[in-house]
Amino acid sequence: MTISVKPLHESFGAEILGVDLARPIDAQTFAAIEDAWRRYSILLFRDVQMTPVQHVAFTRRLGALHIMEPLEFNLPGHPEIFVVSNVEEDGKAVGLKRAGWGWHSDGEDKVLPNAGSFLYAHLIPPDGGDTLFADMYAAFAALPGDLRRAIMGRRACFSRVRLHHVHYPHMKPLTEEQKGSRPDVWHPMARRHPHSGWTALYIGRWACEIENMPEQDAKHLIDYLLDFAHRPEFVYRHQWRQGDALLWDNRCTQHCAMPFDDAAYKRLMHRTTLEGEVPVMASKPVCRPQTASRRRMAENKNAPAAVTARPSTVS
Ligand code: SIN
Repeated sequence: MTISVKPLHESFGAEILGVDLARPIDAQTFAAIEDAWRRYSILLFRDVQMTPVQHVAFTRRLGALHIMEPLEFNLPGHPEIFVVSNVEEDGKAVGLKRAGWGWHSDGEDKVLPNAGSFLYAHLIPPDGGDTLFADMYAAFAALPGDLRRAIMGRRACFSRVRLHHVHYPHMKPLTEEQKGSRPDVWHPMARRHPHSGWTALYIGRWACEIENMPEQDAKHLIDYLLDFAHRPEFVYRHQWRQGDALLWDNRCTQHCAMPFDDAAYKRLMHRTTLEGEVPVMASKPVCRPQTASRRRMAENKNAPAAVTARPSTVS
């Protein structure tokens, strides 16, 4: 097979043409897909018709698969497929409702955040339910110099326990057992991608503290960085068509599922999820070549003052 790559956005995202995910993919074609994934961070495949077995098999070629918990939202017989849906059958939800309504990267609050995710659209509402993606290489590259220096060498604390009630007000509180299995984790705020070597801004909605920084300064900086990361120039909006499948890299992008009228319409998505690795701190900024020129694009008068506390050398 010969694939072609059609960019979706100025800095990241591409549609892959010329590949049929329901048929065997030779090693050379697969390598070309992996190269494109490394460069573009999110890949779109259109008009896909793949069975759960094919969905799982394709993702497994990219790395070990993660089984989402609780298991009740996974596809019966295919625990590697996490179902995102508002559909109910016999009064029982077939998947997790309202999953991902809010900016995040998958597993950011875990010791081993997920490397990537591959979401396949089975049923799409006629209105709403788009997914936004933000390019964290571009956001890092565009950070004003003082903020970039402030986050280099620093880690943020991501806490499911402290913020569960904020982000999931519609869900049950965490049990003591769940809390025990989701301890707070500290991740580098400037993250080196293990394959590309490029630096991404790594921040997320579970972040609540920054090492060696007073609490209020940290909150202010986290809020600022979250706003910065989601500026329109870094965002690609995906309007789903049934049969679309999107592969994204959680190490250098964030995403946000947009609401839709879930009392009126059905949305059914299947997601496979890749295991990840301990995030590595960038020892120096390395911008993706295409974003290096955008570095000073976003100098901003409202940026918080440079942080004076000494960055930690923990890596
Ligand atoms: C997710 O966060 O994985 C779900 C995204 C979506 O349903 O659009």
